[in-house]
Amino acid sequence: MNLAVDLAGLKLKNPIMTASGTFGYGLEFSRYGDLTKLGAIVVKGLSLKPRQGNPMPRIVETPCGMLNAIGLQNVGVEAFVRDKLPFLPWRETPVIANLYAQDVAEFHALARFLAPEEAVAALEVNISCPNVRRGGMAFGQDPAMAAEATRAVLEGAGEKPVIVKLSPNVTDIRAMAQAVTEAGAHVLSLINTLTGMAVDVRTRRPRLANGIGGLSGPAIKPVALRMVREVCQITDRPVIGIGGIVSVWDALEFILVGATAVQVGTGTFMRPDLCFRMVRQLEEAVEELGLESWDEFRGRLITAREGRKS
Ligand SMILES: Cc1cc2nc3c(=O)[nH]c(=O)nc-3n(C[C@H](O)[C@H](O)[C@H](O)COP(=O)(O)O)c2cc1C
Repeated sequence: MNLAVDLAGLKLKNPIMTASGTFGYGLEFSRYGDLTKLGAIVVKGLSLKPRQGNPMPRIVETPCGMLNAIGLQNVGVEAFVRDKLPFLPWRETPVIANLYAQDVAEFHALARFLAPEEAVAALEVNISCPNVRRGGMAFGQDPAMAAEATRAVLEGAGEKPVIVKLSPNVTDIRAMAQAVTEAGAHVLSLINTLTGMAVDVRTRRPRLANGIGGLSGPAIKPVALRMVREVCQITDRPVIGIGGIVSVWDALEFILVGATAVQVGTGTFMRPDLCFRMVRQLEEAVEELGLESWDEFRGRLITAREGRKS
């Protein structure tokens, strides 16, 4: 079967992508596999200026997952374009820049900076960041603010497809999806991490220096799957499923509920070669299911009601 997928004009040779913040700038992982085999590489969140991130400890293991409070440590968008981007195999594998900003003007400036870069195939907007101009509430928790951030990136991005990455830390993910769809997002990706904490009763302190962090890994997969399904039901844009994916079978679950592609995050911390293995195993899995095209499988979940009808 032809494994290729299309994300609003962005062609991927297969639906397996890396998740931002878990695959460095891509190059670090070339020793674990052939980067040109991946569907797409999403790099660490980039800000206008370099960021040091939060104090340590900033990663804690939890049952079936992990909490992180890295604090968006990154080299800054200029150093990324100068020192990392040219060495990625961007002609063979789309490279997607993930954007982190603290106000709308910064989102716009980041998009404008990256728009002329031939080696950047698309922009992914991380709307989980706090909007400092609006009292620190995350862009991703307010539909109007999420729409504003989306429009700011679209205006700066020129011809590049814009992916908006939704936060699960909301009451109704559909309202957020609706808002960014109406604002013109070309593709939606979800989910980012769920806010959580871990404490140590002996020291009586939080285990993360930052106090709270983002939960990821297999523990969040059921939440992610439910949210991806809800979003696929209300948007006509392609959706990228993210959250706890550690095997091709997990990936196929997200495609069955409607996702066009998937991203692998924490799984890469478990096995640095996971994405590469998944690409190799996908062919076999679709054969086992007897699939001939993605169209006959994507979004074709049979619910109890539909099952009774047939
Ligand atoms: C250590 C770490 C750093 C992350 N950094 C970013 C980031 O810079 N930008 C972003 O949009 N998401 C970031 N994420 C979220 C992941 O891309 C992903 O949405 C989330 O971890 C859920 O997927 P997973 O369960 O497969 O890890 C980060 C996650 C982890 C674990």
